[in-house]
Amino acid sequence: METLRPRRSCLAVPGSSLKMLGKAPGLPADQVFLDLEDSVAPDAKESARANIVAALNGGGWGEKTRVVRVNDLTTQWTYRDVVSVVEGAGANLDAVMLPKVADAEQVHWLDLTLTQIEKTMGYEVGRIGIEAQIENPQGLINVNHIAFASDRIQTIVFGPADFMASINMPSLVVGGLNPDYPADPYHYILMQILMAARARGVQAIDGPYLQIRDVDGFRAVARRSQALGFDGKWVLHPGQIDAANEIYAPKQDDYDHAELILDAYDHYTTVEKLGAVMLGEEMIDEASRKMALVIAAKGRAAGLRRTSKFEPPAR
Ligand code: GLV
Ligand code: MG
Repeated sequence: METLRPRRSCLAVPGSSLKMLGKAPGLPADQVFLDLEDSVAPDAKESARANIVAALNGGGWGEKTRVVRVNDLTTQWTYRDVVSVVEGAGANLDAVMLPKVADAEQVHWLDLTLTQIEKTMGYEVGRIGIEAQIENPQGLINVNHIAFASDRIQTIVFGPADFMASINMPSLVVGGLNPDYPADPYHYILMQILMAARARGVQAIDGPYLQIRDVDGFRAVARRSQALGFDGKWVLHPGQIDAANEIYAPKQDDYDHAELILDAYDHYTTVEKLGAVMLGEEMIDEASRKMALVIAAKGRAAGLRRTSKFEPPAR
């Protein structure tokens, strides 16, 4: 698992909304992404670029990961989005999100463009990351190549609304289940994205839930991708942030249990020279250690503190 900061809650902030741009730094999201794409009307794209540059350079973002979503490469806006924002605020930007990525070539284009701007501006080359958003069948069938297309890739992000539209899924509720289909219609897509992200060692992020006042609905959808192993989810409204931060962090009991396994395994393998042992009622071995590491790493990154301690048995 990669070591970047967790992105349990990724707050979408329309670049055309000065109100949201002003409010976002004070909200407890792990990541913000300042949007130039679908939440910004065509006539407002240019002024949104300037708003975003000012907001990034204005600071106050604390530990948040700062991302800008540019327009996709089928539009005329992408190159100016990248040039304006990265030249204007590259020193205060952690990653660029490319929506509707269709193939690895598009990632190569962004990688090269970022390198050129970094060299021109005297920024550290390669520091600014890329988030690749998968929103159509082309992107999904190429997701493994996309994940490996650049060292800058930091996350693979699911874009469910565009994805549903692109495959003619007959529903208007993003993430919703369909009583006519006895399973989760998103399972296949989520798993493909997760496999690509894990093979590449980067984060897998679930997309938005549009019924912003329905926090229970948000929780239900978030729990499904969290159960698979996703690292976080978009939040469109401050009311969804706490739910995402809670759901994508391990529960306290699981975190304590994971740390206990790590300590116990370390004790038994090094002190007692045993590879598979009983910890209470459960057998632990090297694979248990690996599973525990995943949960412990997420818990530590989320700032959880242990509430129990491993006591080696008296000999
Ligand atoms: C997000 O961009 C989506 O299409 O769901
Ligand atoms: Mg989209």
